[in-house]
Amino acid sequence: MRRKIRSGSDSLSPLLCAGLLPCLVLLGAAAAPPGQADRFTADGRLRPPSDYREWVFLSSGLDMAYTDNPATTGHAVFDNVFVDPASWTAFKATGHWPDGTVFILENRLGASQGSINRQGHFQSGEVLGLEAHVRDTTRFKGGWGFYALNGDGPARMIDRTAACYACHEAHGALDTTFTQFYPVARAIAVKAGTWQDR
Ligand code: HEC
Repeated sequence: MRRKIRSGSDSLSPLLCAGLLPCLVLLGAAAAPPGQADRFTADGRLRPPSDYREWVFLSSGLDMAYTDNPATTGHAVFDNVFVDPASWTAFKATGHWPDGTVFILENRLGASQGSINRQGHFQSGEVLGLEAHVRDTTRFKGGWGFYALNGDGPARMIDRTAACYACHEAHGALDTTFTQFYPVARAIAVKAGTWQDR
């Protein structure tokens, strides 16, 4: 299913500024990326991060499938994985994904014929789905929660009985994440001594 992604328009705060101090406060608030504190609504739903395309890009999987005879779809799908910059900085120092980590998996339809291309696949403009994997040990049993994002509205956590949790816990090589498929992050964890092959 196609999902609309928020384009993230900036606030009107420069127009609203009157004195210097209120201006600085307003502009500062507009420029700051959403912090950990406001990622969630009071009732625990995740606000979709509108700026994830400016986060750290970890990898793209192409047509990945986890069974021997996967259903054929007739089209290519890329999954692009991003992580928030503050957690990436912490990861580089420790080799662990810290509390507050937010991963976004963006499924994007692939295309093969277009412009000069005659072979292989490139990514199209069509986003098929957006999912999040969030670490917060105070909030989630097991430390991590999954979300399917749909447009601008805050998303409810996917129930712990869903297959997401079982597969990620059984096969994710680092802290229930699939860092084995993110080559630069994997190398950092190997160097930090936090790596276990899976
Ligand atoms: C059968 C195994 C399996 C199941 C079930 C599964 N995933 Fe994943 N997931 C993967 C693999 C493998 C990757 C790595 C993808 C890549 O390399 O591009 C991944 C990556 C992710 C990522 C990127 C961050 C990370 O943890 O590595 C998110 C977000 C994600 N999955 C969300 C979900 C959600 C939400 C569900 C349930 C609706 C789900 N997954 C179910 C195997 C699974």
